[in-house]
Amino acid sequence: MFLKIKLFAFLVIAMLGLLSQSVYAQAKTSELRVEQKVDSLLALMTVEEKVGQMNLYNGFWNVTGPAPEHGGAAIKYKHLKNGWVGAMLNVRGTEEVNKVQRIAVEESRLGIPLLIGFDVIHGYKTLSPIPLAESASWDLEAIKASARIAAIEASSAGINWTFAPMVDVSRDARWGRVMEGAGEDPFLGSLIATARVNGFQGTNLSDANTIAACAKHFAGYGFAEAGKEYNTVDVGLSTLYNTILPPFKAAEEAGVKTFMNSFNDLNGVPVTASEFLQRDILKNGWDFNGFVVSDWASMNELISWGVAKDKKEAAKLAITAGSDMDMEGHVYIKALVDLINEGTVDIELLNDAVRRILRVKYELGLFDNPYKYGNKIDEEKRTSSQAHHESVLDMAKKSIVLLKNEGQLLPLKKKGQRIALIGDLANDKSSPLGSWRLASDEETAVSVLEGMQKYKSNTLSFSKGPVVFKGTSTFLKELDINTTDYTGFKEAVETAKNADVVVMVLGEHGFQSGEGRSRTNLQLPGLQQELLEKVYEVNQNIVLVLNNGRPLAITWAAEHIPTIVEAWQLGTETGNAVAQVLYGDYNPSGKLPMTFPRNVGQVPIYYNYKNTGRPIDKDNNVFYSHYSDVEKTPLFVFGHGLSYTEFEYSNLKVTNTYKTNKEVTVTFDLKNVGNRTGKEVAQLYIRDLVGSITRPIKELKGFKLVELKPGETEKITFVLSSKELGFYNNKQQFNVELGDFKIFIGGSSETVLEGDFILK
Ligand code: BGC
Repeated sequence: MFLKIKLFAFLVIAMLGLLSQSVYAQAKTSELRVEQKVDSLLALMTVEEKVGQMNLYNGFWNVTGPAPEHGGAAIKYKHLKNGWVGAMLNVRGTEEVNKVQRIAVEESRLGIPLLIGFDVIHGYKTLSPIPLAESASWDLEAIKASARIAAIEASSAGINWTFAPMVDVSRDARWGRVMEGAGEDPFLGSLIATARVNGFQGTNLSDANTIAACAKHFAGYGFAEAGKEYNTVDVGLSTLYNTILPPFKAAEEAGVKTFMNSFNDLNGVPVTASEFLQRDILKNGWDFNGFVVSDWASMNELISWGVAKDKKEAAKLAITAGSDMDMEGHVYIKALVDLINEGTVDIELLNDAVRRILRVKYELGLFDNPYKYGNKIDEEKRTSSQAHHESVLDMAKKSIVLLKNEGQLLPLKKKGQRIALIGDLANDKSSPLGSWRLASDEETAVSVLEGMQKYKSNTLSFSKGPVVFKGTSTFLKELDINTTDYTGFKEAVETAKNADVVVMVLGEHGFQSGEGRSRTNLQLPGLQQELLEKVYEVNQNIVLVLNNGRPLAITWAAEHIPTIVEAWQLGTETGNAVAQVLYGDYNPSGKLPMTFPRNVGQVPIYYNYKNTGRPIDKDNNVFYSHYSDVEKTPLFVFGHGLSYTEFEYSNLKVTNTYKTNKEVTVTFDLKNVGNRTGKEVAQLYIRDLVGSITRPIKELKGFKLVELKPGETEKITFVLSSKELGFYNNKQQFNVELGDFKIFIGGSSETVLEGDFILK
């Protein structure tokens, strides 16, 4: 292999000329320990080549951010040959990847292979549900399996690094990127972060079907003020440590190889320039030894934020803060070289960053075989695999949340019903693919109409009603939501009139959430609310199937419509999943990972809020914490989700052995009291009643997904240790504070059993 020969030659020179201790003489390159390999390679590199490793270029064909002012294909090819590029993104497919890899490996002086990054967010070609939807499954094994499949497909197409998982906790449904995360809770978010990292990276990173993961966006991006994309973030350290950081910490502990910083500032410092986050917390505090990549051009944005006057100053701030790689910012490539050569930036900062990047390349096995990721035969086989379709279908069904089912409209009868299917989104094969779907083929989702048509013994009439948007939908542009064109409206109402059950598929298009898609209105977009109300006037037997990438404020629907199914954007197999749930071939078990507000004015709204000094009205007057014009409770609470069967919780027992072995054991019985087999997510919450700082009213600290047959009971046990009982105080010390606690158990954050214990 050319690369090996080339590197070997250099290593020999290094051994003879630069390094006196000759471990290299005794072992083959592949057997040398990673650190030694990294050091020996580093010793050969010029400043330009080092900075080159820290340079991440977008490919030549599409962008996932604003196009840079300069840096066209010709320059990128030249820089590849010069060894001035360490990684590329948005280059995919065996052929394309090998083309650029070959330049780096065979035409550059040192032949260092490239990292090939891509936003493999919820699948590569075969798409799984959007991450928020997957999180609604609370099924960690299934989530891990979904990331595994994504890694298998992506790696077969040459990708060795994904920009996932996004582990930003967010309480703000206005922010479009909530679709990409795990919702509002740090405990659930941490477990999901771990599952996703393990799924992508597998047990051996150097396997050809595992890829490096990236915990993003470090940190605070989910708290963008007013839910406005790229906005400023100002949060206290208590929220930072107790709410925002835990999923990042979990990803780090799971061995995630890279972190991505974020576009926001945090308490006045743009994150790309934050030493506090990247060095004090991540690298020094947590001993993270992978690397930090900037977000797209976020180094440049230090200029717009007004903390750097030019690229040179931006580069200095970024490297000092610990940003190791510049994503499509074209900042390091020149400015950092100058800063080093002038002696303004210590070369050791550079060496540290390059070491981190090379380490990941070695661990991926790229130096042994730079072409191991990407194989034309595997690529075709894996990206069209039936097994992958079955697996994403399974994930899609697990992600569906039954929000309301009054009058037992669901499950639909399999025979003898006249069903009207209404809504533009019901026949949409693109929207269900969600927002991050760059590698999937257009229009490849199974639509709800197609899924429903497979159940042949009913009469199904479809009427799409008015279009949700005008023109075309794309990743880069705003959707033009239809608020004026009523074509199809009347016909839809007519179709509904004569049906036994009306299934209405309404909500957001897949391109209404995701990056750059904040909303200030959380209602059904366009003419859909009006359509729902008009159909309701003629037929009240409505099953509302929601499509959305965020919690919606569907208050009217929650009051009037008997049955509501949260179906998010469920990926390639959407229609099959929805139909199987509607017809009862799958009993839904999803639970909301994010609170649904009554109206947008309640946002941010979340279950683990603080009690305040005036939680309730004592004297029938206004002086307590509430709104004058809407109830203060949410529309649907965190953790909520129904089943076609019912569950009963009883026999709560708390055994407190904290004094002797630092544990509190909680047991209770969960019984299926309905007449179908079903799954329940049993949830445990605690409240620390008196703390040195204010504590949330409830905190999720355990859950278990249990399947029970009718009449079956399971005894469930949770053991709480310091990890669950403690929190960070305002000096950033993690402590368990002794005193009174409460325990709550139930099938949502609106719990049904309550107990208490005292830590002494
Ligand atoms: C996003 C990242 C993404 C990157 C590369 C940015 O705009 O914020 O999450 O990974 O682009 O596509």
